[in-house]
Amino acid sequence: MVEELSEQPKIVISTPSAEDAVGIQNVFYQTWLDTYPNEEVGITRDDVEDRFKDSFSAEILQQRTENLLNPPSGQKFLVAKVGSEVVGVCRVQRGNNSHELQGLYVLPEYQGQGVGKLLWQEALEFLGTDKDIFVRAASYNKQAISFYEKLGFKSTGRQFSEERFKMKSGNIIPEIEMVLKASEIN
Ligand SMILES: CC(C)(COP(=O)(O)OP(=O)(O)OC[C@H]1O[C@@H](n2cnc3c(N)ncnc32)[C@H](O)[C@@H]1OP(=O)(O)O)[C@@H](O)C(=O)NCCC(=O)NCCS
Repeated sequence: MVEELSEQPKIVISTPSAEDAVGIQNVFYQTWLDTYPNEEVGITRDDVEDRFKDSFSAEILQQRTENLLNPPSGQKFLVAKVGSEVVGVCRVQRGNNSHELQGLYVLPEYQGQGVGKLLWQEALEFLGTDKDIFVRAASYNKQAISFYEKLGFKSTGRQFSEERFKMKSGNIIPEIEMVLKASEIN
């Protein structure tokens, strides 16, 4: 008997369980390494490695697991999995006046296969279409900016340089803000 092999991996979106904590950290770590080093701004690979140096410690993983299982009010965390492997993550926050897309990361080897879009669609189900949705992206992250533009986000013109994104080198990842107006969500 010849079995037909499916070309596309089956991607399943869900809320995380405790055993996803390491996989989630891995998605953050791998995508940060792949995305944020930038010569012009002075962000190095070493900067990213330094930022994640304690991320896989038992203590941090424990904290993260607790947060994942008991998210703050109005927050939704989603994972995209292929089998038991976490290949993408998304976090959104509902607000009184507007909503926020706080993070959307897909493992480099799974990018461009619809994972980001699937996570976004599920996140949007949770947020609803009643309020504007804001997101920030590194100003040099053209890939993310193009992806958000495709979803209907537009630049607000605001720029940020936050101390919490100050890296070991002393350089800060600069950000731009984008908004998806409620009236333009489809
Ligand atoms: C940005 C990111 C989340 C997009 O996720 P993805 O899984 O690669 O994107 P998808 O495959 O779901 O693409 C969805 C749609 O966006 C389009 N798209 C994806 N990347 C794009 C790009 N760089 N430029 C233009 N369009 C793009 C796709 O063509 C697709 O369009 P279609 O629905 O018409 O086919 C992902 O590439 C990623 O994790 N990047 C690194 C981390 C990052 O920058 N995160 C954002 C931090 S703010």
